[in-house]
Amino acid sequence: MDTVVLSLGGSVLVREDDSSRYIQDVAALLVRMSSEHKLYVVTGGGRISRFYIRTGRSLGADERSLDLMGIDVTRVNARLLIAAIGESACPEPPKDFDEAADCGEDHRIVVMGGVTPGITTDAVAATLAERVGADRLVNATSVDGAYTSDPMKDRDAKKIPVMTHEELVALVSPTPSGAGPSVVFDPTGARTLARARIPLAIVHGNDLLNLAKAIAGSPFDGTVVTG
Ligand code: UTP
Repeated sequence: MDTVVLSLGGSVLVREDDSSRYIQDVAALLVRMSSEHKLYVVTGGGRISRFYIRTGRSLGADERSLDLMGIDVTRVNARLLIAAIGESACPEPPKDFDEAADCGEDHRIVVMGGVTPGITTDAVAATLAERVGADRLVNATSVDGAYTSDPMKDRDAKKIPVMTHEELVALVSPTPSGAGPSVVFDPTGARTLARARIPLAIVHGNDLLNLAKAIAGSPFDGTVVTG
């Protein structure tokens, strides 16, 4: 049985429309696929964590406290997904990587949120992938792959179907003038995957058939990042 880590972006999990329907559908997909793959899922915070961080900052909270609020939200989102998955999932979101690996011994699916201030759940997913010896990491996000620049801002942005880890690191790394050309995956997480040589699949989280292909290691529509 292979091992797959899924970074499930808060932007797809926390929806404008009915989140419960989406979470139920993702949960059903994960339960179905867990008979052939050991699954670890890291849930993001989305606009709920942004609400707390924005409001906390305006109230004078320091950055560490804001990150802890963000982590709490990612863990609450993990609980929602655990509730939808039911008994196949470890009932508590693990608080660190050792706990996650332990939970993976006894359960087909492990769902967790953030672990430590100063990073994002993409970076958590990358470190978890290294820790559990994952065969691949799938990033389910709000764009359908990596682009040459931010497709929300640049109409000439081109999708990149296949790239190397080094190319991804260059694409997402901050430049002297600020954020990199694309933030499709967290730069720290990208460097972790490059070092560990773990393949990354980037897919739109809304397309569940396509997400299932990426989790299974089959050809899918999106971006493949390999050695
Ligand atoms: P996310 O991973 O959802 O951040 O964590 P994000 O980059 O805003 O994700 P998208 O845009 O929804 O895809 C939410 C916040 O929680 C804190 C950070 O402040 C992060 O911005 N966090 C999360 C941590 O400090 N540590 C963690 O391990 C995880």
